[in-house]
Amino acid sequence: MAEKRKKVILSGMRPTGRMHIGHLAGVLTNWVKLQDEYECYYEIADWHALTDDPTKAREVNSNVLGMVRDWLAVGIDPEKATVFRQSYVPEHTELHLAFSMLVSVPRLLRNPTFKEKLAELRKRKGYTKMQLKVEELEVEKELPQILKFVREEDEEKAERMLSSVINRTKEEVLEKITGEVSLDEAAIPSEVSYGLLGYPVLQAADILLYKGEVVPIGADQLPHLELTREIARDFNRTYAPIFPIPEPLLTETPKILGTDGRKMSKSYNNAIFLSDPPEVIEKKVKSSITDPMKVRRNDPGRPEVCPIFHMHRVFNREEVGEIERACRAGELGCVACKRRLTEVLIERLTPIREKAQSYSDEDVLQVIVEGSKRAKEVAERTMEEVREAIFRP
Ligand code: TRP
Repeated sequence: MAEKRKKVILSGMRPTGRMHIGHLAGVLTNWVKLQDEYECYYEIADWHALTDDPTKAREVNSNVLGMVRDWLAVGIDPEKATVFRQSYVPEHTELHLAFSMLVSVPRLLRNPTFKEKLAELRKRKGYTKMQLKVEELEVEKELPQILKFVREEDEEKAERMLSSVINRTKEEVLEKITGEVSLDEAAIPSEVSYGLLGYPVLQAADILLYKGEVVPIGADQLPHLELTREIARDFNRTYAPIFPIPEPLLTETPKILGTDGRKMSKSYNNAIFLSDPPEVIEKKVKSSITDPMKVRRNDPGRPEVCPIFHMHRVFNREEVGEIERACRAGELGCVACKRRLTEVLIERLTPIREKAQSYSDEDVLQVIVEGSKRAKEVAERTMEEVREAIFRP
């Protein structure tokens, strides 16, 4: 009997640098598990990495080898999964263009990731409190009109609207009421490119180019997948039914905090990398914050606020129960707790680091080139179908 067809998985990562233990605990362990059960495509999303800064290409380029080296070191197997680089498969850009006509600009402006980026940029550019106040005042100015507009429909809704207006920007209020995004040009900093707005459209092209059916992602990426599903449905309806409607596979991402207590991230300089040698691991763990209320060895600690504890929870499952008890009871001091974590991490990361070092640059490059060739064959077939559906219906 023919073997049952494996479902297609597509997932990707932007090449932002070497992988750290947060990646290992979340995405990477999951990717390795999925390789046997699914036909997996793992993408180096280099175009995506340029969407917030187009001059980063050199940096992105130099991150690619290191990232894939780490993927291989943790057990991504190029015999099982297709590891490919987005820019080596130009069909991504063509499908992105075809899809761009199926998505409205207001739909993209409502994308939560985009809104976050916007807020970040505004803050960085020093949109001051004063200016924000002005925005709030404008909301107040608009209120009578808004209320009238809403009252025509529903008194109760008007009340609710009113209470939700407090502390909102004008755009947000109008968006809530009309379902449309009002474009206050001044509120969109000039750094925001067309490409950044289209980020999730490119992501939809990534997934659907391979007819991805299952997409392992973190919860933060759900809105992007929702847009992918909308685009797939719309394409199928408008032209020809060629795309599956992909499902998310939510990746359990255990909380890993950086050594300063914030989210672990290369850009915060608080990450423990898979490539860190033992003495660096030791130094980073030693200098990590713990529960600030636990000053002396015998003070009871609060594991839930301690980055060291969260790492024990993920990488030291056998002992974590006892560690939690002893920390809360004031029996375990931070120095000993950190020493134990250092041992555990060194034991876990040493084989990964050694495996990573065993590949030459050429080895890694070859995996990417071969994988991209394989990916391109699939991509070409899909694009044939897409052009056929659009231009020769
Ligand atoms: N946007 C994803 C992230 O930042 C990366 C990505 C690009 C992706 N293309 C994808 C993820 C396709 C899943 C599927 O993490």
